[in-house]
Amino acid sequence: MPKFKIISPSAITDNPFTLIGKDWALVTAGDRNRFNTMTVSWGGTGIMWNKPVTFTFIRPQRYTFGFMEENGCFSMSFFDESFRKPLSYCGSHSGRDVDKVQETGLTPAFTEDGVPYFAEARLVLICKKLYVQHMREDCIVEGFVKQNYNGDDYHRMYVSEITSVLSKE
Ligand SMILES: Cc1cc2nc3c(=O)[nH]c(=O)nc-3n(C[C@H](O)[C@H](O)[C@H](O)COP(=O)(O)O)c2cc1C
Repeated sequence: MPKFKIISPSAITDNPFTLIGKDWALVTAGDRNRFNTMTVSWGGTGIMWNKPVTFTFIRPQRYTFGFMEENGCFSMSFFDESFRKPLSYCGSHSGRDVDKVQETGLTPAFTEDGVPYFAEARLVLICKKLYVQHMREDCIVEGFVKQNYNGDDYHRMYVSEITSVLSKE
């Protein structure tokens, strides 16, 4: 397995729109003993409070949601196109019902602080939660946004500092 090198967030060369929207990512939260992962394709990267951040949006019904709430840090793992199948699997099955590590064959790895990510990733962002807020119907400005919700499934937004970037490039 190729080793990661640590790079600065500004050294990431990926297009920020395709990185999450097209490539997708696995958001993984928990610790060495207990963690869960799920696919995301909404969200972003940027700058907030002068820090490099990710913006992540998780619906409360996801099993991963509880892990995001219970832990201060999580990871976003990005893969080559050859991993589309496991990413699709992790985005269409719940960790409540299946063991995603066993089913996909992905290899969990952990930072020194115990933040879980995946060894097969080409790029990993280690994220530390800074600001968390649940989305609300009365904050919607354009009607089409509401079509994405059924009333009790508004995303929770996590603005998180990118504390470390692991790259295989
Ligand atoms: C391509 C793709 C992108 C997704 N993006 C998100 C997202 O940004 N936020 C979210 O809450 N769910 C998203 N999902 C849905 C979750 O990945 C899916 O419900 C998953 O099975 C949840 O797993 P869990 O219950 O083990 O947490 C996405 C699914 C796919 C296939």
